[in-house]
Amino acid sequence: MASQQPLTNVMKIDSTPPACYDKSLMLRIGTIEIESPFVQAALSGYSDLPMRTIAMRLGCRFAFNEVVLDKCVLYPGRKNKRDLAMSDELHPIGGQLMGHDPDVLAEAALLMVNTGYDLIDINFGCPVRKVLGRHRGGWMLGQPNRAIDIIRKVHAAVGHRVPVTVKLRRGLDDTCESEQNFFTIFDSAMQIGVAAVTVHPRTVKQRFTGTSDWLFLKKLREYAPDAVILGSGDLWTSEDCVRMLRETGVNGVTIARGCIGNPWIFRECEALWKGLPKPPPPTLAEQRSVIAEHYRLTCEFYGVERGSRIMRKHAIKYSQHHPIPKQARMAFVGVKTPQDWQHAFDIFYGGDVSTTEGTTQSVRSDEYGSASPASQHNP
Ligand SMILES: Cc1cc2nc3c(=O)[nH]c(=O)nc-3n(C[C@H](O)[C@H](O)[C@H](O)COP(=O)(O)O)c2cc1C
Repeated sequence: MASQQPLTNVMKIDSTPPACYDKSLMLRIGTIEIESPFVQAALSGYSDLPMRTIAMRLGCRFAFNEVVLDKCVLYPGRKNKRDLAMSDELHPIGGQLMGHDPDVLAEAALLMVNTGYDLIDINFGCPVRKVLGRHRGGWMLGQPNRAIDIIRKVHAAVGHRVPVTVKLRRGLDDTCESEQNFFTIFDSAMQIGVAAVTVHPRTVKQRFTGTSDWLFLKKLREYAPDAVILGSGDLWTSEDCVRMLRETGVNGVTIARGCIGNPWIFRECEALWKGLPKPPPPTLAEQRSVIAEHYRLTCEFYGVERGSRIMRKHAIKYSQHHPIPKQARMAFVGVKTPQDWQHAFDIFYGGDVSTTEGTTQSVRSDEYGSASPASQHNP
């Protein structure tokens, strides 16, 4: 059942903007024109091909793959091949790379572009201790010279073919030196010609605690009015996403924890952004069909045993929409086998749900950090 092949049986999304589409509502990253500024963030352990497929079927227009180590691109094992899988029909897609050696990163970027990635994003944000210890991810924020060297080499390798972008946190910590390093890297990135930067305005030291400093995004907007800036952090609801665009002036937002188990957030964002009423929350019937399809895609991709375990963390997050969310969540927490999955799914989403409305609102959750082993790798 497990497949190393990219999934091909995906619904093609209509990427043609309507003739009347207001260009100011769109997002341009270099040569890529995206019909809305709401992007699915890179989410290690989550934003695999099945999750991106579901998101794009439900209105997401551009998604990042999860971060991949440069060496794993160059010498892929079975797992890494799957981590890099994409579908011909799900474009544009951004690939994200992390590493230490500028030449290795540049070589990996070239291979990813040859594989079909439409954009290369360089990760300078990962706060995981092991990653920092290996001088990767967020570590670069304290080493601007190396960070700039990486940007320069990656851009030289692929910048003439696809947009190169950089993901940053606002610094290693709250010191002036950290802030200075941020701006040194940012200014150089702009000079080199990166197409956009995504900024998660927490510090590396903060990891996922405290709040994301949106004021920093606003200041950056004022500092670099012509740069394409994508904001990140504390985007839990569609209202948050639109508010970040309005309050900070960033060009786009990358939705992270707010879209796990909530692929409907993209259509909500787009409606609000266009000044339309917010669509109603997904009915229970809709939740059922989306979760079932996510499960089917995941099992096709990883095999049914592993797929069932992987889907557990998604189902826990999907349960936020269920009319009795706590009970639904608890039912999926214990899922280990396909039989467990089927049992929990039948109880909470089975039967005739076609007329039953799921009326709960998206809930704020800050438990992702501990929800799964994948959270060990949160950039
Ligand atoms: C489980 C998890 C995995 C993540 N994986 C990545 C990743 O692969 N690359 C990346 O740049 N950021 C990653 N992030 C960071 C998010 O993209 C985002 O910047 C961060 O979660 C802040 O947004 P939020 O507060 O709206 O969740 C991850 C975050 C989480 C929670």
